[in-house]
Amino acid sequence: MNRHHWWRDAVIYQVYVRSFLDSTGDGIGDLAGVRAGLPYLRKLGVDGIWLSPFYPSPQHDHGYDVADYRDVDPVYGDLDEFDRLVTAAHRLGIRVLLDIVPNHCSSGHPWFREALAAAPGSPERARFHFVDGRGPDGSEPPNNWHAMFGGPAWTRVTEADGRPGQWYLHMFTPEQPDWNWRNPEVAAEFDQVLRFWLDRGVDGFRIDVAAGLFKHPELPDSPDPEADARTRDSVNPLAWNQPEVHDVWRHWRAVCEEYTARDGRERLLVGEVSVPSAREHAKYVRPDELHQAFFFDLLGAPWDADAFRKVISEAMQDIAGTGSTVTWVLNNHDQVRTVTRYGEPAPEGSGLGAARARAAALLMLALPGAAYIYQGEELGLPEVVDLPDDVLTDPIFRRTGSRARIRDGCRVPLPWSGQASPFGFTSGAESAKPWLPQPEYFAEYATHRALADTRSSWHLYRDGLQLRSALHQLGEGTLRWLDTQPGVLAFARGDDLVCAVNFGTAPVPAPVAGTPLLASGPCRPGELPGSTAAWWIDGS
Ligand code: NOJ
Repeated sequence: MNRHHWWRDAVIYQVYVRSFLDSTGDGIGDLAGVRAGLPYLRKLGVDGIWLSPFYPSPQHDHGYDVADYRDVDPVYGDLDEFDRLVTAAHRLGIRVLLDIVPNHCSSGHPWFREALAAAPGSPERARFHFVDGRGPDGSEPPNNWHAMFGGPAWTRVTEADGRPGQWYLHMFTPEQPDWNWRNPEVAAEFDQVLRFWLDRGVDGFRIDVAAGLFKHPELPDSPDPEADARTRDSVNPLAWNQPEVHDVWRHWRAVCEEYTARDGRERLLVGEVSVPSAREHAKYVRPDELHQAFFFDLLGAPWDADAFRKVISEAMQDIAGTGSTVTWVLNNHDQVRTVTRYGEPAPEGSGLGAARARAAALLMLALPGAAYIYQGEELGLPEVVDLPDDVLTDPIFRRTGSRARIRDGCRVPLPWSGQASPFGFTSGAESAKPWLPQPEYFAEYATHRALADTRSSWHLYRDGLQLRSALHQLGEGTLRWLDTQPGVLAFARGDDLVCAVNFGTAPVPAPVAGTPLLASGPCRPGELPGSTAAWWIDGS
């Protein structure tokens, strides 16, 4: 019999460290804050946490611009505090995943500084993509690619003689130069970085931009250079999803297996894989590659029964076929929160959006495979849609000429207690200011209040997680779609567990008689109200 692999149906909680809990009173969350919040997460019942990047960084993209892959930024703590956090988490049975950023580093990284100081053609420059420009004086970028966050993907440098010189590639901001993974020094360096953190006891890594790393070797022009920025997705087929990347994941998997062979603890690699189809996605989770890859199509689906059924069916067909399980996600630190995405654009979220977000969560937790929850999702937090321009920090906002306000609203610091900002987020004085302002209505969502109210989203998530552990039908396995009327999805897990979601607004007959085991909203026996999901054990 197959030994159970913990990650196959794990539920992991994404901690956006900056916004979780601040232990120093500077208005910015930190690692000691995460440690203080562990009992809360233990109560919720998650299997592990993924920590957003906390490494030394100039914070041009909130830590996704790493200047030192082997340390902790003083804003977030230090290595000793990191060790204390891992020990405390393990004591509570919570695994710890780090966020590793291998596609690019910070322009403040020592190797990039060395590259800037070195001459064209030098080994220092060969760790990045330094290329001569086009045109008679090299004043045009080497190709027409645009960066994901807007603007050209190339920046020209000034050479030691003071003249304009080569260009370097950055698929995100100019402060995030892309590594050249065709250079074996880069691969060797990341091998050491992985081992550095594995030696400190981590349970695995969330891999940023896991379909990146390699670019087409000739860096040719793209027929649609603005596609990435326009779609906010990695769709330029010359810059992403190159076949060579799979060798890197095979190597990283082997490193993880090496550690497992030593101590029996299975490590986890989860990739941020954004590729054009479920079939391409499946390649990343072949048995000798990544354990998991986020399946973003569920997150991208509109609130519509047919759309949800299509993405779920495709995932089950293409990904489950690899022997891995599907990794579901509805929210993260880059996306508008579900409550707002599924609802009307009201500052405090709308009743409809909140109900739909709860139903979607129950659906996700009933699907076969693993799931990730983004901090605040369990509180039913809406997106903060009315942040003033002058507090926004997302580089996308600045680089698109202030057109795109996408990622700050889901990063507002969590409310823990009390009636007014900082809602217990900072340990400082009442006057301490969180790094992004919290709206007054956050009081309704504070964790203290959520824990005390059995009708809160927190209780729904907690109950769902408890049932996942208690019921063998949930977690891994398959699903069987049941016949339903349009606008309703229902599926069976195992012989007798049924999950149904009513995407419409009017009640429909429930697919199973009797009281549900768990429901995302009030249900009368025999009926499934609109915007509601429920689980039943079918005893008939
Ligand atoms: C994906 C991360 O989730 C996002 O926050 C970041 O800006 C980009 N990768 C670049 O590292």
